[in-house]
Amino acid sequence: MGETRVEALNSCDLVLHRAEFAAVYGPSGSGKSTLCSLIGLLDRPSAGEVLLDGEPVARLGDRALSRLRNRRIGFVFQQFNLVPVLTALENVLLPLEIGGRMDADARRRATELLARLGLERHLAHRPSKLSGGQQQRVAIARALIARPELVIADEPTANLDSHTGTEIIGLMSELHREHGVCFLFSTHDAGLIQMTERRIELRDGRIRSDERR
Ligand SMILES: Nc1ncnc2c1ncn2[C@@H]1O[C@H](COP(=O)(O)OP(=O)(O)O)[C@@H](O)[C@H]1O
Ligand SMILES: [Mg+2]
Repeated sequence: MGETRVEALNSCDLVLHRAEFAAVYGPSGSGKSTLCSLIGLLDRPSAGEVLLDGEPVARLGDRALSRLRNRRIGFVFQQFNLVPVLTALENVLLPLEIGGRMDADARRRATELLARLGLERHLAHRPSKLSGGQQQRVAIARALIARPELVIADEPTANLDSHTGTEIIGLMSELHREHGVCFLFSTHDAGLIQMTERRIELRDGRIRSDERR
């Protein structure tokens, strides 16, 4: 920031395992978004390294990284980030469209995923016709459509009321078990971290605790 050096993360040593259901929590500014962006390969660290399957990703170029993200990582955002002119179904299919992997089965799978998330009657709805909770469920279906190994959700409940937020994390937990996908979400809501198997607490860019149930 100008002349000031900000250390968003420091000495952050973390191994995320296959099929984990984990939360990163800490107050605003503690480094949650930075950690999510690094693990999601959206950002590169200025020091240290990020390994995927034990392989450093630093030597991959931007195209290779995009491809890796598209195939192996799903993202859910605080602002839902659905494309307003597309229907719920089209939004879910977008990662496959972008990755050039649309096939005959894709529509069926997208429809099934949306039905699993309770949106069977909203397939043709645009995001503006959906509630926040419904939009986030579409975003979860979109994150899962390419069968990723990891889904990263940075404060997915920050724009939802607490009941809907709890429902969204509950759904993620079920999908984690059903699909064997690793979910990592961030939150500053102490209630939500109770629902996870692993809690990583960040404070001032450092891991303060890392507990498993
Ligand atoms: N692009 C940036 N430029 C300058 N400072 C940043 C930037 N991104 C994050 N920070 C700072 O890094 C720290 C961690 O930020 P962040 O990862 O967004 O935390 P959180 O998501 O927990 O709120 C904060 O002090 C924030 O102000
Ligand atoms: Mg953040």
